[in-house]
Amino acid sequence: MCGIIAGIKKENVVHDLINCLKKLEYRGYDSAGIACFENHRIERYRSVGKVSELEKIVGSKYSNIGIAHTRWATHGMVNESNAHPHLSTRDGFSVCVIHNGIIENYKELKVLLIKQGYRFESQTDSEVLAHLLHAERKKSSSIIHALQTVREKIVGAYALVAICDKDPNTILGTKKASSLVLGVDEENKQVFLSSDPNSLSGILNQIVFLEESDIVCLEGTEFSIYNNAFNKVDRKITMLDVNNDSVSRGKYQSFMQKEIHEQPNAVAMTLENFLDENSLTAGLFGDIAKRVFGQVEQIIIIACGTSYHAGLVAKYWIEELAKIPVSVEIASEFRYRKSVIKNKTLMIGISQSGETADTLAALNLARNLGLEWIFGICNVQESTLMRICNLSFITRAGPEIGVASTKAFTTQLASLFILALTLAKTKSHISVQDERNFLTQLRHLPNAIASILHEEQNIKNWVKYFQNKQNVLFLGRGIHYPIAMEGALKLKEISYIHAEAYAAGELKHGPLALIDENMPIIAIAPNDDLVHKLKNNLEEVKARGGKLFIIADHGFELQEDTCTKIISLGDHAGFLSPILHVIPLQLLAFHVADSKGHDVDKPRNLAKSVTVE
Ligand code: F6R
Repeated sequence: MCGIIAGIKKENVVHDLINCLKKLEYRGYDSAGIACFENHRIERYRSVGKVSELEKIVGSKYSNIGIAHTRWATHGMVNESNAHPHLSTRDGFSVCVIHNGIIENYKELKVLLIKQGYRFESQTDSEVLAHLLHAERKKSSSIIHALQTVREKIVGAYALVAICDKDPNTILGTKKASSLVLGVDEENKQVFLSSDPNSLSGILNQIVFLEESDIVCLEGTEFSIYNNAFNKVDRKITMLDVNNDSVSRGKYQSFMQKEIHEQPNAVAMTLENFLDENSLTAGLFGDIAKRVFGQVEQIIIIACGTSYHAGLVAKYWIEELAKIPVSVEIASEFRYRKSVIKNKTLMIGISQSGETADTLAALNLARNLGLEWIFGICNVQESTLMRICNLSFITRAGPEIGVASTKAFTTQLASLFILALTLAKTKSHISVQDERNFLTQLRHLPNAIASILHEEQNIKNWVKYFQNKQNVLFLGRGIHYPIAMEGALKLKEISYIHAEAYAAGELKHGPLALIDENMPIIAIAPNDDLVHKLKNNLEEVKARGGKLFIIADHGFELQEDTCTKIISLGDHAGFLSPILHVIPLQLLAFHVADSKGHDVDKPRNLAKSVTVE
């Protein structure tokens, strides 16, 4: 979603700001803007569409201080007036503000500001911040005191940066429930603020994660941080763990394709710490994990989208291996439901970004209801999610840039399987021999994924059957039903083909009515205990003229014919089968979308990280 970048350096910073905006493009946006100083005055440039459009407008402008933004419309249409930065000019000076998040009391503030004579040019909630900061700057001795007062008056979620031409060497920032980091480079005398640390890769490598309500003041190339009580504080500097390679497409035509192919390595990295040993230890999940895992009686998993599907798979693993009841809930539903949570419940939040607003709100709700044990599975160590959890597991997939989640999903699954095994071990439900066997299978998993990626051409051969379809049905049973759901989500979000997933046993209860020669059906058919049941369901589909596309294992009993295509993945992989069966579905979605000429990395209307509800 929206991205913020701001910086001061000794030389021209405009070019850096544009480059950083390009690195933020993957988050999804519809307009972009930049403000900088020219001859001690604030100049602002905005454009609808790609950052490259803004780049053309900015041309070769020179400024050593600037703030820039990519906007993803929430309040107000996609147009130039609604694009950030927002400017407030009167009484001989200007204030310019960029904001991510939502100001909940913006309507009340707007009424007050209009009464004071401020004129609004946009439909956004964010514009109130520019006028409010201007009004407070007029009354205050410094911009930092003005921002302190603004912070007290606003309600909602925000990461904001601001400049004022009364304070020409200064950029201010503050944040609450939205990400903002400080980037520091003492050697080259430059300081930056960004909503996404990855955007700073290649510019500097020291990062400070701001705490809630911190105000940060960049002055010249120095910085100072003030906490909620307005005391000057030191915050820990950490090294930025991203290299430029991970945010470039390399030899691939899109990030999504690259990320699909990175899965063997991403899974290997994620499992590294666990597979060095011959036995699992709860301690790897955090200091209190052993005690918590021993006592836990119920698990609730909270997530959105693809991460939710990972949770659904984990339910099968944890219940079967560790015998602990698990419920899996969509975060946006859970947060507004009056749920009953028993003592000794472990709440697990799964999120690639760790910034998904609904997931964070649901976990905070659980904490406010008195739940002590909050476990986060996340791909970003420095995320908000990681900071609100007291147990955690970091998936080491590396930055995921494509909007459609792929390597984050398979690494979440690998982590959740390790968790299921560790819970089972702590509860004495698996033998030493079983544990060793599972660890051996996990060690083999990256290679197993790699060999499925070799099926890419076979999958590509199926594209012609889907390209011009309006609807596709995905079928699965048992633990592969969530994999069917994930396959349907992947296809719909990047190819814009309507895709639905059904538990195959439900066919007779309604969806069989949809089957005809125009409805391709993708079936996930591993050689597990349910394969015969599934085969019966697929015979019913064939009998009604349905065209079947089956992702099977060796030994699947149906034969290929004009209406039945089969790709076989090899021997059945037991518990790990969902991690393998999802890969052909990712590849199919990618190639269908690509064949339709879509921008697979930035599908329409979607953002990578959903930081507002
Ligand atoms: C789909 C997709 C989304 C995300 C969802 C949650 O491909 O990427 O459905 O899975 O927005 O995001 P995270 O995992 O960052 O909380």
